[in-house]
Amino acid sequence: AHQWRGVIREYFDRLPVEDGDRIITLGEGGTPLVHAPALSELVDGEVHLKVEGMNPTGSFKDRGMTMAITSAVADGAKAVVCASTGNTSASAAAYATQAGLTCAVLVPAGKIAMGKLSQAIAHGAELIQIDGNFDGCLDVARKLSENYPVFLVNSVNPSRIEGQKTAAFEVVDFLGEAPDYHLLPVGNAGNITAYWKGYREYYEDGLASALPTMWGFQAAGSAPIVAGHPITEPETVATAIRIGNPASWEKAEAARDESGGVIEAVTDEEILSAHRWLSAKEGVFVEPASASGVAGLIKKHAAGEVPAGKRWVITVTGHGLKDPDWALQNAGYDDAAPTQVPQDVETVARTLGL
Ligand code: F0G
Repeated sequence: AHQWRGVIREYFDRLPVEDGDRIITLGEGGTPLVHAPALSELVDGEVHLKVEGMNPTGSFKDRGMTMAITSAVADGAKAVVCASTGNTSASAAAYATQAGLTCAVLVPAGKIAMGKLSQAIAHGAELIQIDGNFDGCLDVARKLSENYPVFLVNSVNPSRIEGQKTAAFEVVDFLGEAPDYHLLPVGNAGNITAYWKGYREYYEDGLASALPTMWGFQAAGSAPIVAGHPITEPETVATAIRIGNPASWEKAEAARDESGGVIEAVTDEEILSAHRWLSAKEGVFVEPASASGVAGLIKKHAAGEVPAGKRWVITVTGHGLKDPDWALQNAGYDDAAPTQVPQDVETVARTLGL
């Protein structure tokens, strides 16, 4: 038996890598597909969660980053740059460290969850907070990579999409078939693009006999694809998807339309309620943005738009420890909430109602 070797080695023949390339990997991918009993009961179907928080830096970004940094190394890059709402920067910083590359990350000032910021800092990235939002950061990162010797590792870099499509391969490999529906959050729209590409490749090669219907969910205050125009001041508690002008907009619409799916909005309230559902009913701890797909399923079920007897896969994109403050607030904890008692068995037993 050997351990999972990371997505490049596991799916070498399906990725644009060459024999002899130095593979930069932290063992990403191979994440669990977790059956969700409470959601399954709710929709009278079979619901599985693709738990991407189990990746090395705690989000799905690692799948794309192993490819992006591996190809940066193959191209002789010395430095990489990305714009990020936090997870991409954490991932880029970690993979660049292994490769020995300088990593610059541009993040919107004050809008990054603490866990993600601490990862970028721990891995020694050059961290620059921009007075602006993610869309502004991406604009600067793109121009920087066009005019200076630095390699862009955002999902506009096609190698990122290539790496991320492996999540769809894993779903089919684990289930033996594509699900009827695949649900996920949509921010910059790279991931929905990548899943659709992965599902289509397996389908075209006869490894899956059907394609799933793709349902993507944006946060209501940051839902440009739903609105049909860019949002100049995107807002949401789900900072990971606080994006007003997604780079892969048309590709996300193509995934939606070719699969007969939808891209809809969920409110912050619905996101936090789904976040609480995942923690309290399924035992799966995610960051707020990651709960958007589940919020979408619950919302559409309430609207009578969820057929019974189907198989659903919902990607939960990042780990709850990335952004633990929301979990405490969401559960109604303030600083004083935990009960403090003396070091005494009877008191503890009484406090627990035993
Ligand atoms: N969920 C999480 C936890 C994310 O970090 C992101 C994107 C998404 C969902 C949306 O995925 O952009 O491919 O549609 N985070 C990027 C970042 C923007 O910088 O970390 P998408």
